[in-house]
Amino acid sequence: MCGIVGYVGPDAKSRTLEVIMEGLARLEYRGYDSAGVALVVTDGIASAKKAGKLANLRAEIEAHPLPGSTTGIGHTRWATHGGPTDDNAHPHLGGDDDRLALIHNGIIENFHVLRTELLDQGVVFRSETDTEVAAQLLARAYADTNDLTSAMQQVVNRLEGAFTLLAIHADTPGQVVAARRNSPLVIGLGDGENFLGSDVAAFIGHTKSAMEVDQDQIVTITKDTVSVIGFDGSPAEGKRFEVTWDAAQAEKGGHSSFMAKEILEQPHAIADTLLGRTDEAGRLVLDEMRIDPVRLAEVNKIIIIACGTAFYSGLTAKYAIEHWTRIPCAVELAHEFRYCDPVIDAQTLVVSISQSGETMDTLMAVKHARALGALTLSICNTHGATIPRESDAALYTHAGPEIAVASTKAFTAQIAACYLLGLYLAQLRGEDSTVRTVMQELAQIPGKVEHLLGRMDRVREIAHFMADTRSVLFLGRHVGYPIALEGALKLKEIAYIHAEGFAAGELKHGPIALIEPGQPVFIVVPSPHTPYHLHDKVVSNIQEIRARGARTLVIAEEGDETVVPFADEVIRVPQSSPLLAPLLTIIPLQVFACQLATAKGLDVDQPRNLAKSVTVE
Ligand code: F6R
Repeated sequence: MCGIVGYVGPDAKSRTLEVIMEGLARLEYRGYDSAGVALVVTDGIASAKKAGKLANLRAEIEAHPLPGSTTGIGHTRWATHGGPTDDNAHPHLGGDDDRLALIHNGIIENFHVLRTELLDQGVVFRSETDTEVAAQLLARAYADTNDLTSAMQQVVNRLEGAFTLLAIHADTPGQVVAARRNSPLVIGLGDGENFLGSDVAAFIGHTKSAMEVDQDQIVTITKDTVSVIGFDGSPAEGKRFEVTWDAAQAEKGGHSSFMAKEILEQPHAIADTLLGRTDEAGRLVLDEMRIDPVRLAEVNKIIIIACGTAFYSGLTAKYAIEHWTRIPCAVELAHEFRYCDPVIDAQTLVVSISQSGETMDTLMAVKHARALGALTLSICNTHGATIPRESDAALYTHAGPEIAVASTKAFTAQIAACYLLGLYLAQLRGEDSTVRTVMQELAQIPGKVEHLLGRMDRVREIAHFMADTRSVLFLGRHVGYPIALEGALKLKEIAYIHAEGFAAGELKHGPIALIEPGQPVFIVVPSPHTPYHLHDKVVSNIQEIRARGARTLVIAEEGDETVVPFADEVIRVPQSSPLLAPLLTIIPLQVFACQLATAKGLDVDQPRNLAKSVTVE
């Protein structure tokens, strides 16, 4: 939520503005309510900011060009305090002479008290934001200290909540000072230039050399130096890492949207997540997790915590994890988990799942679990993100950068990673043959997804014809149930259509009343090999809703002819063992949502009111 960029380059003719605008374009997925930049120029600070998407800021700068500069900051906003207006857009200027500019990601919880204090001192505010309070405080602290880093240190110690702040001052050209608490910040290390960003996408076009910043640290960059201190002034060091993907992976590459591209990238996302996880004897090796196998072997309870799509990946994985390990596995929404007084001890493994690794609700839940003594493991797609660093161990999905706000390839990669974890726990309990069999089946999944993606023409046609649909229901059972929930979420978030997912067995307990003639219903049919006759039960459910006029869009395995008489449309997926089917059955639902939103002329990658990486609670 909110994208931030900072840059210091070699000379005033350098491409400072260009670098910042390019960084903002790559971070726009984090928020697109408004955008702004500020530069240190000869006679002070030059800034421009505009409500709406980055294109509006670009037009503003074209109409009113900014002077050259070595030093600048840029922001793309997801509004929290104050609506998405020009005035509320960042940067915010501070001081009586507007010689300081500041941008912010997060929420300053005690802003009201601080604002009142500043109002009493005669400060006139030009926005409704919490950020302007920090800008004014920083300008005052700078007036006392004449040092932007020390001023930042004074200010952060007065702030409560979550924040990444970036500031420049007209008196200190060639310097950007940043601070972070519970909000993301990474440093990009260039040659004669340095960068700051919410994530590495901000500078991936310029350097792959990066440095992590810990909680409660202040960073000062110049073109040649990077220094890090704690909020208490103690010296600190960032941890360097190399970014493993390149700028081309964060481009649309000829696709109509990032979402369309990312859907197609799933064979690679799953394959890369599974890659190199076994030794020559076929045993799983998850050294990357850096977790003590003895402690892991003692685990007697698993709680998965996550939000949104990541939560549904956890719900999907629960079936497999419990089946393979016989360890009870609960799946909780991260924002509920913290407040439900969870029963946790040292033998509880709390697994967080997060694409961004920055979701505030999930981060806070991880901290809570750790404080209660649980062993915490983060399944994450973003190297250097806060959640894996705040966890005892990390298992990375290797889906590559996910730019579209609606998560697709991260979802299937998360399921794959959870399966690796489940199998590893099973291996620790001596289930070697299960591990070998499932790993062999998993290895075939990327090829099956590829095959399936090549046969989505009919799904696209159906989506196109359904562009005016006002409501779609999704039914599933067993592992198909979370897939129904995820299919509904995709449609809600990018096509703004009322959509609901149900467990098929729940239908007769209420939701069947929603069925009226013509109501489209997707049904995720379990493989005929699913135990307990679940397949037949779902086929009966299809008959029940068809009898009441539903238009049935049935997702069924190749060769399953029993569904044909009751289906208005049959969407075929390759055969697989029941527990691996979600990696296939979700594909048509992702394609359907993406195509339907496109047919409605909507911005598929940047749906209204949303932002990727939800860094506020
Ligand atoms: C939906 C979507 C969100 C995220 C959720 C968690 O398509 O992307 O529901 O899954 O906000 O985000 P992460 O995985 O970054 O913690």
